[in-house]
Amino acid sequence: MAEWIEVAKLDEIGPGGRHALLGEEEILLVRQGDTVHVLSYLCSHQDMELEGGYAEGDGWVCPHHGARFSLKTGEALSMPAVDPVRSYSVKVESGKVFVQEPAP
Ligand code: FES
Repeated sequence: MAEWIEVAKLDEIGPGGRHALLGEEEILLVRQGDTVHVLSYLCSHQDMELEGGYAEGDGWVCPHHGARFSLKTGEALSMPAVDPVRSYSVKVESGKVFVQEPAP
């Protein structure tokens, strides 16, 4: 059974997302109300950070060249990205954000 790791507190996540570490993996936390989505920290287009972007519908827009990724699956929804980013299972309990370590 994969382990749930506490990565941040809900109120630490600002509008542009927040960087966190899951073991050695860099992840991006995105808050929408009391819901949190978690994607890879780096964009699949040119490996630049997704932090500083913004939510648009159910997607997250990269601040560099505007590619949009599904907040639920990490799928690339618009150019210039074609490859997905990783998405992670997340839960919020008592104001703390927990992310499930992906299987190796
Ligand atoms: S680095 Fe994200 S769209 Fe280019």
